[in-house]
Amino acid sequence: DLELHPPNYPWSHAGPLSSLDHASIRRGYQVYKQVCAACHSMEYLAFRNLVGVSHTEAEVKAIAEEVEVVDGPDETGEMFTRPGKLSDYFPKPYSNPEAARNANNGALPPDLSYIVNARHGGEDYVFSLLTGYCDPPAGVEVREDLYYNPYFVGQAIGMAPPIYNEVLEYDDGTPATMSQVAKDVCTFLRWAAEPEHDQRKRMGLKLLMGTGIVVPLLYYMKRHRWSVLK
Ligand code: HEM
Repeated sequence: DLELHPPNYPWSHAGPLSSLDHASIRRGYQVYKQVCAACHSMEYLAFRNLVGVSHTEAEVKAIAEEVEVVDGPDETGEMFTRPGKLSDYFPKPYSNPEAARNANNGALPPDLSYIVNARHGGEDYVFSLLTGYCDPPAGVEVREDLYYNPYFVGQAIGMAPPIYNEVLEYDDGTPATMSQVAKDVCTFLRWAAEPEHDQRKRMGLKLLMGTGIVVPLLYYMKRHRWSVLK
């Protein structure tokens, strides 16, 4: 196909020993909640997953309580609503795929829980997709209800450009330029798809330091033991 290949962006978490930028994860959650969650579910994330990653427990409790959760049945067999709890999963924008398609001219907004693993190019692709909308080249017609995007397979996508400069106001005061917003939501999506990311790299560092001690030691012991046979 003719879609553009995304460039490699210099993510601060790209290095073999680099952790995720947790302030960016926090802003990225704000982007997801205020922008993307209108159409995209993240069904594998529960509020408790944010605790100690991007928010304190008290903050997450307050966020969860804003959500109205359907629960039940109670003793009388009735369903009821209650404020959300830490153990609840993120609310979904649509009750089923048909409703999702109806609201989006037939296109289905995919669940974003693992999107940076599911799509070739990962966060480079999602960043490019979000910031890459432009006018179609001369002579190219895009169907009504679709939008030209050179990074999308077929170049015509059913998602209207979701972000632009100052699409939201960040709680931490960071200027919400389009590229900042795209970067933060991609960092959040990387964490969501790979919550063990930092742990994995810390284990790698420990492994390197451990072998850095053990390997020279074994070498020395081997030379020492065999020295009499020289
Ligand atoms: C598709 C991300 C906001 C509607 C997608 C895809 C991604 C994505 C990664 C998949 C593209 C692919 O298949 O390769 C985001 C992010 C958002 C956001 C990060 C927030 C910053 C929205 C909003 C809406 C929406 C607000 C609805 C108004 C859709 C639809 C599709 C889609 C309908 C399917 C498009 C198609 O298959 O043609 N989005 N999105 N998205 N998104 Fe979004």
